[in-house]
Amino acid sequence: MGQARQQGFRLESLVRRQKTKLDQGASMLWVRPANTFDAPVLGNLHVASWRSAYRNVLSDAFLADDVAADRQALWTRRLARPAANEHVFIAGIGCAALGFASIFGNEDPKWGSFLNNLHVRDSHQRRGIGTRLIHACARVCAESYSHAGLYLWVTQVNVKAQRFYLRHGAQNRGESTWQSPEGREVALYRFAWPDVEQLRRVSARPDG
Ligand SMILES: CC(C)(COP(=O)(O)OP(=O)(O)OC[C@H]1O[C@@H](n2cnc3c(N)ncnc32)[C@H](O)[C@@H]1OP(=O)(O)O)[C@@H](O)C(=O)NCCC(=O)NCCS
Repeated sequence: MGQARQQGFRLESLVRRQKTKLDQGASMLWVRPANTFDAPVLGNLHVASWRSAYRNVLSDAFLADDVAADRQALWTRRLARPAANEHVFIAGIGCAALGFASIFGNEDPKWGSFLNNLHVRDSHQRRGIGTRLIHACARVCAESYSHAGLYLWVTQVNVKAQRFYLRHGAQNRGESTWQSPEGREVALYRFAWPDVEQLRRVSARPDG
């Protein structure tokens, strides 16, 4: 075989290998800490999630209109000046952002760190993204706030999210109400993990 032909084969197989790696990378789920530049993406994810999960909780008018400016302003402010105990994670596949989570470490003397947000795009739910996000939260809690538990508030009608939390070992620990941005009273449950190490274990992938 001529030298030029051999080089051609080598080049072709190198291109094929690189393409396979790129294809694998494009379908791989990633989770990373969010930064200031993620504000518009987080705002969009939050709006889409509220429009879906809070359809019968918040008014149609609010969800159709004001929610967009409300959530964009929130994430622009929060990511520009995060509190010292605030941790925000974003998840995606390839170049698409598909979910996010945020916690405030050691927020409450009794209940510990506060899981403030957890949202996965409707189109990509039940693929393990929520689990990867809550694992990232559990890991930071176990490493930096290990003497504290973790808790969250979930609307009483949001059975889907409650199942997700129960599946990860949370306990239903009481009720409260939330004053929504449009001034409505929304009934909530508190879900809690007394031990973040337990959540870290339950949410870990089999390969670690
Ligand atoms: C709750 C939420 C974050 C879960 O994210 P997700 O990526 O779909 O969850 P996962 O794929 O990691 O699910 C892990 C396990 O949780 C349980 N679970 C998740 N969604 C469930 C559902 N709709 N019904 C029953 N169990 C569910 C299952 O046991 C699931 O494992 P399986 O798919 O192998 O059966 C997602 O449904 C969501 O973003 N909902 C809208 C926003 C919201 O309500 N956020 C919570 C606010 S408090």
